[in-house]
Amino acid sequence: MKRIVMAAAGLATSFALPALAEDIKVGLMLPYSGTYASLGNDIEAGFRLGLDTYGADTGVTFDILTEDTEAKPPVALGKAKKLILQDRVDVLSGIVSSGVLGAMRDLIHGSEVPLIVANAGNDEATGEACSPWITRLSFSNGQVNRPMGTWLHEQGVGKVYTLAPDYAAGRQMIDAFTASFTDAGGEIVGQQFTPFGKTQDFGPYLAKAQASGADAVYVFYAGGEAISFVKQYDSFGLKADLPLYGAGFLTSPLYVNAEGPAAEGVIAALHYVPTIENDANAAFTTAFMAETGRLPSEYSVQGYDAARALVEAVKSGATDRASLGAALRKVSFDGPRGKLSIDPVTNNLIQPIYVYETVAGDDGLTQKVLATLPASADPANGCELAPVSN
Ligand code: PHB
Repeated sequence: MKRIVMAAAGLATSFALPALAEDIKVGLMLPYSGTYASLGNDIEAGFRLGLDTYGADTGVTFDILTEDTEAKPPVALGKAKKLILQDRVDVLSGIVSSGVLGAMRDLIHGSEVPLIVANAGNDEATGEACSPWITRLSFSNGQVNRPMGTWLHEQGVGKVYTLAPDYAAGRQMIDAFTASFTDAGGEIVGQQFTPFGKTQDFGPYLAKAQASGADAVYVFYAGGEAISFVKQYDSFGLKADLPLYGAGFLTSPLYVNAEGPAAEGVIAALHYVPTIENDANAAFTTAFMAETGRLPSEYSVQGYDAARALVEAVKSGATDRASLGAALRKVSFDGPRGKLSIDPVTNNLIQPIYVYETVAGDDGLTQKVLATLPASADPANGCELAPVSN
């Protein structure tokens, strides 16, 4: 703790700054290999920019220890144990896969180490399996997909075929879309889950979708799988007759240019696209481009906001695991995504969702916002976090 003693006009005034730890050890757990490797690198770039932008005047050194989760639950669990028990980190951040987050939940809860989730959308982590130690600065799987079911039906789409990788995120995203789409009066005419991280050839699945009588296809794919899927969907000749929709990770600005013209016309929903117009986003996109030479994505903004949340917690006086955990739940700020706040009931972020179309722009593909769907809190699904005190 730093204490400044001021003497003025003969009066000694003891003036305690909020307690500031000299060093905060941050364990950054991300996939640096496999299907989601590019996501991990992008989140780290955003995280480091967030610390540089907001953390420089704290007097605190943030030591970052990175570990490759490979997006594999057992690998990630071993790395988390090392960071918590051996390296004694003050806080963890990162986590891309819902499967990894699900596997880590009990370790985090039991060891009382705050985790700032910078991607994984696992609904349960801010629902039935919530924890005061898990605060999410990214999105939940339900939050991104639920509004799309209603919106798509309003656009006159009646019959949909769904596809997603077979693991927690794929199932939760499709479940959320299906529930709101069928509530609105739509029909799901078929669905398939493809082996996660192993499917090279989507042809057999696409053939079934084509024969299903659907008006459209709705999917969740991300990273390397998204690139293969979008390209194969186009080369299969499906795009013209069977429009492609999805959770917006499908055509993320991070890799949409690798998808190329195959991505043009795909309509999807996300909590951030770099074309959102506000001052914080203008500053962020400029700084991110200066650092990396490319536009940011939803992954970079999640890393950036996760780092900013950590800095805000430190600035409020938090120094260790317990105080950081409590302070993180109270964070709120105006960021590139607009006004962010943490739902005190679940520790999930509350934010608007943007429906966007991938269109050709002056410098490659870009995101045209078609609709802004209002922010709403997720159902608590049995989560009963004790209120945060001020
Ligand atoms: C997840 O597993 O929760 C996940 C992974 C990649 C994404 C979105 C969600 O782009």
